[in-house]
Amino acid sequence: MPVDAYAMLPPYRIKVVEPIPFLDPQQRRQALADAGYNPFELRADQITIDLLSDSGTGATSAAQEAAAALGDESYAGARSWFRFRDEVRDLTGYPHLLPVHQGRAGERVLFTSLLEPGQLCLSNTHFDTTRANVTLAGAEARDLPCPAAFDLDSADPFKGDIDLDALAATLTGPERDRVGLVLVTITNNGLGGQPVSMANLTAVRDLCRAHGVPFFLDAARFAENAWLVGQREPGYRDWTPRQIASHAFGLADGCVVSLKKDGLSAIGGLIGLRDDDLFARCEANLIATEGFSTYGGLAGHDLERLAQGLREVVDPAYLRARAASTARLARLVNEAGVDTVQPAGIHALYLNAGRLLPHLSPAEFPGHALGCQLYLDGGIRCAELGSLYLGGMDDRHRLVTPAPFELVRLAIPRRVYTDTHFEYVAAVLADIAKEPGRVPGYRVVSSPPLLRHFKVRLAQLPTAGGGTD
Ligand code: F0G
Repeated sequence: MPVDAYAMLPPYRIKVVEPIPFLDPQQRRQALADAGYNPFELRADQITIDLLSDSGTGATSAAQEAAAALGDESYAGARSWFRFRDEVRDLTGYPHLLPVHQGRAGERVLFTSLLEPGQLCLSNTHFDTTRANVTLAGAEARDLPCPAAFDLDSADPFKGDIDLDALAATLTGPERDRVGLVLVTITNNGLGGQPVSMANLTAVRDLCRAHGVPFFLDAARFAENAWLVGQREPGYRDWTPRQIASHAFGLADGCVVSLKKDGLSAIGGLIGLRDDDLFARCEANLIATEGFSTYGGLAGHDLERLAQGLREVVDPAYLRARAASTARLARLVNEAGVDTVQPAGIHALYLNAGRLLPHLSPAEFPGHALGCQLYLDGGIRCAELGSLYLGGMDDRHRLVTPAPFELVRLAIPRRVYTDTHFEYVAAVLADIAKEPGRVPGYRVVSSPPLLRHFKVRLAQLPTAGGGTD
């Protein structure tokens, strides 16, 4: 057997399966129109391949389900909590741990306990709920991505890094007293799923220490970041993913983690802390809003699945196969004539819709248009990361500030789809790439003030040929 094929082999086989729906083109057209052309409003039973999110969408293992059967649902001090706590403490080294039901709950508890109104939170890139929770705490979320992140085609290995010069300048400049937190997202989901190097994290730690500012990780994809560090950063080749991840946690003062990704579970999250006072404030907040500090909104069976999932996610064979599968999808898509953010990360593939659909201006939302077309042509659901998500709009919902890029994210659920599913996705994309001019643009009909993309409603614009698709 060729060595490459062996390296790609997932270290599991499939025991429980779920049927996927197939709708005809007319049914898909109707479904998308009824959803106001917002894929978030589609029903799951209208979707053939769901690449909307890698969050909470993974398959669990037999070992996780066996552990779940042992879930202890005691209100306080459940056995399941201690199993989870010991696993997380071993991985992260943080003395204080608080469970939460998902990442954004951890963000809310942490930011309302740590940030003062008017303060600044600096990040390589805030995830959307993270930005919203910083804002709701009265603080300002500011992104400082490294310059390499803006060249979508460059093969730079660590385009997820924070811009250290900009960070140092802010920590020493006129706004230095406003900085309440530095939060580095690993991997950088908002900017192409690119990893953050250990060199970058170490430099952030040093800067934050020198200026007395807390440094936290948003570590939703800590294992995938560790895998990419092991592959790409000199000096870490002989480290296991778990060792690299532990080292990353060790550099920070704390973390907030959505465990719906690398926890390999449908639900869960955690806050890790070193500071005793901050822990006391967060714990009081948690008990009032999430649940007692030994369950934090999770059931005992969730904590059991998570404890086991955290072991499985750092398995090098699992991470190698997952990275290889995403890289293969990237190759197929690129060969079909669709450019993607380079180099491919792990949890998602980011399509350069702006380049594929030059006939659409940012105000016609080419990323959204490509996402809708994937659904119309193939029943594939995904998310736009472009001007619809990030652009500035006036009060009549017209785009006034376009996003820097018009991307579409194909998020890859963990252990769910096979390479045959991905071949189908690449084939649907290849078809669109043959005749991109037929893809219509969109305009916004109504939009909420915060987290627009979840609830926005749109209408299709006529194509150059006259009709709508
Ligand atoms: N931080 C990052 C980097 C994320 O990607 C997410 C969620 C969160 C925080 C919030 O965690 O969903 O558990 O509350 N990302 C999902 C996504 C939703 O599709 O990228 P949550």
